Amino acid sequence: MVESVTVRAPCSTANLGPGFDVFGLALDAYYDQIQLEKGGKGIRIQSSDSIPIELEKNSAGLVIKEMAKKYRVKTGLVVKIKKGVPTGFGMGSSAASAAAAAVAFDALFKLKLDGNSLVQYAGMGEMASAGSVHYDNVAASVLGGFVIVRTNPLDVIRVIPPKDLVLCVAIPKIPVPRKKTEASRKVLPKLVKLSDHVKNLSNASALTVGFMEKNVNLIGSSINDIIVEPARKHLIPGFDRVKKNALAAGAMGVTISGAGPSVISFASTSANPKKISDAMKKGFSAAGVECTTVICKPSKGSAVV
Ligand code: HSE
Repeated sequence: MVESVTVRAPCSTANLGPGFDVFGLALDAYYDQIQLEKGGKGIRIQSSDSIPIELEKNSAGLVIKEMAKKYRVKTGLVVKIKKGVPTGFGMGSSAASAAAAAVAFDALFKLKLDGNSLVQYAGMGEMASAGSVHYDNVAASVLGGFVIVRTNPLDVIRVIPPKDLVLCVAIPKIPVPRKKTEASRKVLPKLVKLSDHVKNLSNASALTVGFMEKNVNLIGSSINDIIVEPARKHLIPGFDRVKKNALAAGAMGVTISGAGPSVISFASTSANPKKISDAMKKGFSAAGVECTTVICKPSKGSAVV
């Protein structure tokens, strides 16, 4: 009988410009790891990383709690979390833990849940950090590749990204509020102009075709958001310069990664990703901000290891 499973789940970027709360892309850059073990009493979280270990305040804890309730698990569980994804920088950190938790629970209890059900459970974890459920990051982390999230009922469409797509992420070293996603959702407009919606919808549609046709140029030129990015960019010092520099260095499209403050560039492998990363770094340093840069490819999603 299996008594313990270990799952790795990747970080992700959400929105990809015009697809707020709808698009996600799993990134082969950082991973969270969860070992779920039967034993003891109740559900306990263990981690040597500086994360909340109270069940309700931890995205993985919330997922395990909900799944244990749903499947009437009587045995005690230990959730051992190893964080690899930087927390609070728009890289889907809470989602990676939530995704790993859902996939680990499924494997430990041999539930064989389908992708949508796993994403649904993983999404519950987002309550811990975002204060609301959204599925873009968790869907990418669970399923891998590029995802399109439809809700009510939840239905996630997954598309395998083109092999020649490369991402350059710049993670600024700035202080972020504890409930950063919640805070950066508060700056968003409640209503949008119909003409702005039309522009974003046209880009979102073109971006989807770009992924389906494996056309990096079309993906890059569709990373264009006139609703969310303008409302959030003031939270990222140097954003305009970082974006301008990256485009000048050969990026096809540049936007905020998820709720920020990381900035992500989309490029073809025929471009020079190092040059793009350096250009982004210079953009941040002109605003007096240091950053870490990562060059990566899409990830295949969560897996039992
Ligand atoms: N779509 C979400 C947002 C992602 O932009 O608020 C946050 O992780």
